[in-house]
Amino acid sequence: MEKKKLYIKTYGCQMNVYDTERMVDVMAPEGYMETDTPEDADLVVLNTCHIREKAAEKVYSDIGRIRKMKDTKKKDGEEMVLAVGGCVAQAEGAEIMKRAPVVDMVFGPQTYHNLPDMVNQSLSLKSQGEKSRILDTGLAVDEKFDQLSKKDVKKKATAFLTIQEGCDKFCTFCVVPYTRGAEFSRSIEDLVKDAEKLAKAGVVEVTLLGQNVNAFHGVSENGEEWRLPQLIRRLAKIDGFERIRYTTSHPHDMTDELLKVHGDLKECMPYLHLPVQAGSDRILKAMNRTHDSASYKDIIRDLRKERPDIAISGDFIVGFPGETDEDFKETMELVRDVKYAQAYSFKYSPRPGTPAAEMDDQVEENIKSERLSRLQALLKQQQADFNNSVIGKTLSVLIEGKGKAEDAVFGRSPYMQAVQVKVGADKVEELQGKIVDVKINGANTFYIEGILA
Ligand code: 5AD
Ligand code: SF4
Repeated sequence: MEKKKLYIKTYGCQMNVYDTERMVDVMAPEGYMETDTPEDADLVVLNTCHIREKAAEKVYSDIGRIRKMKDTKKKDGEEMVLAVGGCVAQAEGAEIMKRAPVVDMVFGPQTYHNLPDMVNQSLSLKSQGEKSRILDTGLAVDEKFDQLSKKDVKKKATAFLTIQEGCDKFCTFCVVPYTRGAEFSRSIEDLVKDAEKLAKAGVVEVTLLGQNVNAFHGVSENGEEWRLPQLIRRLAKIDGFERIRYTTSHPHDMTDELLKVHGDLKECMPYLHLPVQAGSDRILKAMNRTHDSASYKDIIRDLRKERPDIAISGDFIVGFPGETDEDFKETMELVRDVKYAQAYSFKYSPRPGTPAAEMDDQVEENIKSERLSRLQALLKQQQADFNNSVIGKTLSVLIEGKGKAEDAVFGRSPYMQAVQVKVGADKVEELQGKIVDVKINGANTFYIEGILA
């Protein structure tokens, strides 16, 4: 079969990283090999993110860049198929088709298992001299997972496993319920099968993915109603899995049973990404978050009772409509209270079609910027403090790749910290995919470093 080149650019969250990997899998049997530059690719996919305005605008500027490459290829008598996938495609599919005629196809996050068919259809239309425009933004999730489960997995030490998708929470700022659709949990039987396949392929760390991962629910092999805690306990029994993580969780679904898993299971890593978004109860209510700052802090307190060393990560939005200085102060207080090991923070960005975009009293851009820089300074300080707190300790590190220096490898601590380990140039290859003990002897805001213990 003729070899072809596939370039995929991934924007946004880990779900998109996962989807990109699956697109590579579905295109492989068609003869497409992944390449890391778009210039000479036969198929270019932009796997987009719609969560904030900036992310969506970037897509259009990338389309402009790729148009030039496509034109150059065309002059040489070769075709390039340009596809836009992901959440911008889902939300603004028709608009992309209108605004960017160079785009050959647009497909949403729930239809990319059809990618081979779409590409072949586009190429056959092209060969007949017709302008092909394909738009596929259906939202039926189950068919996709059925198709994807049939694919083989590549050998790697870490892997994502999507266990649920979509969201029914309707936070008033968020597009996810519209772009990824309603909450859908995959069947436990299928998940166990997929997980066993991963373990067989050498995966030692699995990250369970979902927009609302702890809303997961299903019926077990013996007819019991299971939620995330039972699923984690089941997967931890699979031979080979030494580390299990899950993301992203909503405070609403942090049940006592789930907290207990962190205390009981050595496989469940001491790290939790638990977005709070804001510290003011008034703002949380306007965001439709269904938790307040006290109930969020209670979860963190109870979690630390189960697992005292757990590292907490979060998401924050500043400048949500109506946010006053006083409200923002409460966000800063909550951060001081919780002490985050790392976090993501954003300026509120009005998303078309969401309730918050229609709210009066939108906050001025310069106030948003000022609040964001104060919040980020505090979070950065906390991240540095957390990283410094492990100096002198020995941590188990899963080696994922080569390090910054030639004699170093890169890995992750149980707390998700990036770790640079000096091992000697001769050991760099053999340590890939292994879990090793590392004595930590240095730290800064972004990573920690050490030597083999
Ligand atoms: N504006 C800014 N940040 C947003 N997020 C989601 N929607 C918006 C928005 N409209 C952030 C939230 C969420 C993370 C994935 O992105 O913090 O947890
Ligand atoms: Fe968006 Fe809220 Fe659902 Fe998270 S819980 S995906 S922020 S609507």
